[in-house]
Amino acid sequence: MEGGWPPEGGLLLCLAVSLLLQGRGDTFTINCSGFDQHGVDPAAFQAVFDRKAFRPVINYSVPTHVNISFTLSAILEVDAQLQLLTSFLWINLIWDNPFISWNPEECVNINKLTVSAENLWLPDIFIVESMDVNRAPPGLSAYVSSEGRINYDRPVRVTSICNLDIFYFPFDQQNCTFTFTSFLYTVDSMLLGMDKEVWEITDTSRDIIQTQGEWELLGINKATPQLSVGNNVYDQIMFYVAIRRRPRLYIINLLVPSGFLVAIDALSFFLPAESENRAPFKITLLLGYNVFLLMMNDLLPASGTPLISVYFALCLSLMVLSLLETIFITYLLNLATTRPPPVPPWLHSLLLHYTSPRKCCPTVTQKGNKGLGLTSTHLPGLKEPVELVGKVPASQEAELKGCPGPTRGQQEDEAQKQHLVSLWVQFSHMMDTLLFHLYLIFLVTFIITVVVLWNT
Ligand SMILES: *[C@@H]1O[C@H](CO)[C@@H](O)[C@H](O)[C@H]1NC(C)=O
Ligand SMILES: *[C@@H]1O[C@H](CO)[C@@H](O)[C@H](O)[C@H]1NC(C)=O
Ligand SMILES: *[C@@H]1O[C@H](CO)[C@@H](O)[C@H](O)[C@H]1NC(C)=O
Ligand SMILES: *[C@@H]1O[C@H](CO)[C@@H](O)[C@H](O)[C@H]1NC(C)=O
Repeated sequence: MEGGWPPEGGLLLCLAVSLLLQGRGDTFTINCSGFDQHGVDPAAFQAVFDRKAFRPVINYSVPTHVNISFTLSAILEVDAQLQLLTSFLWINLIWDNPFISWNPEECVNINKLTVSAENLWLPDIFIVESMDVNRAPPGLSAYVSSEGRINYDRPVRVTSICNLDIFYFPFDQQNCTFTFTSFLYTVDSMLLGMDKEVWEITDTSRDIIQTQGEWELLGINKATPQLSVGNNVYDQIMFYVAIRRRPRLYIINLLVPSGFLVAIDALSFFLPAESENRAPFKITLLLGYNVFLLMMNDLLPASGTPLISVYFALCLSLMVLSLLETIFITYLLNLATTRPPPVPPWLHSLLLHYTSPRKCCPTVTQKGNKGLGLTSTHLPGLKEPVELVGKVPASQEAELKGCPGPTRGQQEDEAQKQHLVSLWVQFSHMMDTLLFHLYLIFLVTFIITVVVLWNT
């Protein structure tokens, strides 16, 4: 230190000399002859440190090449409402500083040194999508090699904007972009490159992300379009990070309970339609489902309409529909057993068509005539009204015997009424069956959808 280094005033001269020396190629700009005795002499690097305000090039027409890579070390949060992805990156920048070089043989074989980053010129690389100020910890260092290659690592918590599509929640994949570019150096001053392949970045990131959090890294792609703003062209590197949500939590907490509730509601169709327990049972289920929805609201994304919300709405609608149907059937059966309203012709033919497909042809011909003949061909297929209507068995027996007694008109009336009742009962059963099939179709579609979405 006391030796041959020029005083402050001679610094410019020194710089000029070092410029000239650099031009000759094989001379070293840093005198490290005393490194082994006194450690690194700060004076040896002073000239370099003093230049940190300027881009370190000898010829300002030559752009600085900066090689960029990063490691995705954590995916912290995906906010669908604000469309933000919060992740943690280790950004690695490599560039050359032509004012730094020394001869390792003179310098006790020191090939690289760490230098406090605040003493060096740093490229102003930033992530375009980042919606937050870079909060890199202070006091970082950079590796400087004897050839003047500077290797600078910086951990950054990036809150970046990302176009999130939560339609397929919780089976969604997101494709977020990290665009690295210089804040103000155009292509004339700075060129960006990569010394690693993207698959290496992907592999390291996969190894580093140890947390079994909600998100899983699928892959990283890159593109290098240049960005022109006005007359200025900026170099940039875009990384597309594809991530996928791990759906297990949501399947266990959302889909399975909801599926069970719907399945139980579907099974309640096996309770006879005439049973008084059915409506209360369904109401309880509906109540339970509403409580479930309230509790699970926190797990759903706060914005947008994912498919799963549609599914919940459909479940709820089905349950309400089945409750309404149960109420309607109860009303209908009540009405039918007391004073059965006439069956509209279209309903009649519909019932004939659907309930006795084997006998469809002969009965359809008797459309206009709802007499005894029709009843007798029809009744054997029915058992329920017999149980339902207390007074039916006797008259039915009588009718089945086919003996026209003295009170024939009365019996005919009775039979016709009973036929009406049976038709209404049949109708209610048809509605039950229809709704039950709807439930089955819904459940099967749901299971297939979940399996397909889970596996893709
Ligand atoms: C380096 O510095 C030492 C003294 O610290 C001096 O003796 C030596 O000549 C210098 N070498 C060069 C190449 O300037
Ligand atoms: C600076 O670089 C440009 C482009 O490479 C070249 O044309 C020019 O001659 C260089 N100037 C000097 C002084 O080396
Ligand atoms: C950047 O990477 C390229 C390709 O691997 C390599 O040729 C070049 O020397 C690297 N430049 C810097 C400054 O690391
Ligand atoms: C992500 O989106 C970009 C274009 O926006 C596309 O080039 C890239 O292939 C997508 N990546 C994946 C994994 O879907």
